[in-house]
Amino acid sequence: MSNRGNFSSRIGFILAAAGSAVGLGNIWRFPFLAGTNGGAGFLFIYLICIATLCVPVMIGEIAIGRRALSDAYGSYNKLGGGKWGYLGLYGILAGVFILSYYNVVAGWAFGYFIEISFGNLLNHQDFGSFFGEYVNQIGPLFLFSLGFMVMTAVIVSQGIAKGIEAANKIMMPGLYLILIGIIIYSLTLPNAGAGVNFYLVPQLNEITSKTIFYALCQAFFSLSLGMGCLITYGSYVTKDQNIVKSAAIISIADTSVAFLAGLMVFPLVFSLGAEPGQGPKLIFVILTQAFQQMGPLTGRIVGGAFFLLICFAALTSTISLLEVPVAFLVDQKKLPRKVVVWSMSGIIFLLGLPSMFSQGIVPFLNKLPIHNTPDMLSLISDLCDIALVSGGCLMTIFIRNRWKIENLHEELSIGNPGYMGSWLKSYIHYTIMYICPVLLGIMSVLVITDKFFGLEWLWG
Ligand code: PHE
Repeated sequence: MSNRGNFSSRIGFILAAAGSAVGLGNIWRFPFLAGTNGGAGFLFIYLICIATLCVPVMIGEIAIGRRALSDAYGSYNKLGGGKWGYLGLYGILAGVFILSYYNVVAGWAFGYFIEISFGNLLNHQDFGSFFGEYVNQIGPLFLFSLGFMVMTAVIVSQGIAKGIEAANKIMMPGLYLILIGIIIYSLTLPNAGAGVNFYLVPQLNEITSKTIFYALCQAFFSLSLGMGCLITYGSYVTKDQNIVKSAAIISIADTSVAFLAGLMVFPLVFSLGAEPGQGPKLIFVILTQAFQQMGPLTGRIVGGAFFLLICFAALTSTISLLEVPVAFLVDQKKLPRKVVVWSMSGIIFLLGLPSMFSQGIVPFLNKLPIHNTPDMLSLISDLCDIALVSGGCLMTIFIRNRWKIENLHEELSIGNPGYMGSWLKSYIHYTIMYICPVLLGIMSVLVITDKFFGLEWLWG
């Protein structure tokens, strides 16, 4: 175990797992999904999913990793034997594909950081068309994504404590500060109240099946669940740590950043008279417009700092995504860490190219003949979402039918002396034994049907 590396402290693990969770999912994806799926209704369902389905899955994953002390594949294999290792591989594969497109979007954010800080992006008039043109140039995007992948690889090749922990300690607090700063600014703008209303006052009749599907997938994605990331990080957690408490802190940290991102974006959207449902370009358009209104110098400073922090947040997530396949190859195939890191990064970067070119450069890649899925990037992201929710479902089935719930309880009581008699034990027991496998199973099937065949007939 000692040569696998460990987090040096409790706070180190929490920061790294929260760093994995907080990323583009919170700041880029959450606001645009909330914007297209009813605002407050989406937020409401999202919070319910976190409390009832996601926190138990997170606790289960960390416990599996700490018990087995192995990567995602090795952990299922060790605790379950038989074919259970394939469940780990399924997650590892999902992680590889998530990283492939995630790195492309991170490249956009990195490009915006450079363009705002050192270029003249803020002099433009129409930020919507600027974005469209921007994601359609090959050169800069290729370079920025490649740069991002290289940074990820450099940090992951340093190993656990040195690379991953150190990076997180600086980035997380900075992100909170800038979000709160921009929220205060946005709330003072005219018509900000309409945005707050849209975001915080749910119209229950606007909640459709899509609201529920997207909210659940987003909750899994945002908390980095269902693909073995937290099994891998859990395997570096020492026995004196309280897993339940750590999971609660990580979930609160992640959810609060997503919540704040929405609170930052929607007042801006409404005060600028913009459309909340504009999809993936939402923050790129709205925030640049807001930065422009702050004036040339302030806009450049605040805008540059904002996109820089998004890049940091994305980096702590790409680190965790890369760590999953790397840990697998290092643990199982006994390959040297550095070799694995660089070759995996290269492969994943290449896998991302179709997503990178799917915004218009290669026309075929954004006219896919699949229901609801206009382009390659969305297709991969949809497939990965399905993998996360179904992976989470299978993980709970693994605990209840194979590893056994008593072993989970035993692992959770290590580092948490009061656990056995507490209400938390019952909460974890019932959610993992019944609620998660049933609901996540049903939802996996419905999400697959919806994404590929359309479910409008079911309920809106
Ligand atoms: N949770 C990350 C985010 O919100 C993305 C991620 C998904 C990271 C799955 C690791 C595993 O940006």
